[in-house]
Amino acid sequence: MVWRRTDSERTRPHLYYLILFYSIINPAKDLSKASYGIRRGTAALERIDKVLNAENNIREAANAVVPTFNKSIVYKDVSFAYRAETEVLKSVNLEIPKGAMVALVGQSGSGKTTLADLLPRFYDVTEGAITIDGVDLRQMKIHDLRELMGNVNQEAILFNDTFFNNITFGVDMSKPAPNGQTWQEAVEQAARIANAHDFIVATPDGYQTTIGDRGSRLSGGQRQRISIARAILKNPPILILDEATSALDTESEKLVQEALEHLMKDRTTLVVAHRLSTIRNADMICVLHNGQIVERGKHDELLALNGYYAKLSAMQS
Ligand SMILES: Nc1ncnc2c1ncn2[C@@H]1O[C@H](COP(=O)(O)OP(=O)(O)O)[C@@H](O)[C@H]1O
Ligand SMILES: [Mg+2]
Repeated sequence: MVWRRTDSERTRPHLYYLILFYSIINPAKDLSKASYGIRRGTAALERIDKVLNAENNIREAANAVVPTFNKSIVYKDVSFAYRAETEVLKSVNLEIPKGAMVALVGQSGSGKTTLADLLPRFYDVTEGAITIDGVDLRQMKIHDLRELMGNVNQEAILFNDTFFNNITFGVDMSKPAPNGQTWQEAVEQAARIANAHDFIVATPDGYQTTIGDRGSRLSGGQRQRISIARAILKNPPILILDEATSALDTESEKLVQEALEHLMKDRTTLVVAHRLSTIRNADMICVLHNGQIVERGKHDELLALNGYYAKLSAMQS
């Protein structure tokens, strides 16, 4: 797949990388037409808004370095405000060791998405710092920082093109495919792991079938599994999952949850969970309340505290 940079993209390198990271649009189209390929509207459009706003504020340091990730991600005394005087995160301290699965739970508006969005530098912290292996995110090359991460959100953002091109979107195919495979083999392998292969090959042209105008021929669960296949193919060490199953019915949620578990294996994952049942086995669960981590620990420990987590849990049973 060829990504042709238009003039406006060349003058907006941050935007270019943000779009790659969030896998938003058909590369053949420009951003003004991006919404054309997006099915149900608002969550996806909010993501695009976020991307455009981030572009204005995020700057790469002049002497930026290529990040490494061997030890841990650390949020140190992180505070954040979208607007002056309204702190959305307050002195958050959080360590995510390499290989761990850390879950964020808490009521709507408590700051979970904001906390996760700071990691790819959609926004910069207002106070404190986030480091990876001890290096401040703001000292890193932005493209390389985002190369470390894959992302699955509440709504998959797909474009009107083939399954193959949707899955490979954002992957540098000028490089050889992993493990001596052809790209076709690598894409199929990713789709199998994502529980997407079977429904893809059942379509008339298999991987060359066009997903359809606005992806409307696919169910929500199928769309999510395509975006999971995309993340599997990208194979990043860090995963950010933000309510990846919350918009699905129970049946497709099961298939997507299974796909997510394959995806999370051997990776470092920050997962924002809507349903607590999906994060029961997390290495650490953090409960956010009004922008602060008010409880943290394993599922059983948190239940035993009989506090916020126990209350959330009771509401869902
Ligand atoms: N782009 C934004 N601009 C201004 N305020 C925002 C923005 N995004 C979220 N907020 C506010 O920040 C707070 C935390 O939101 P969010 O991180 O989305 O919470 P959660 O993911 O836990 O539901 C909420 O009060 C929300 O209204
Ligand atoms: Mg959220």
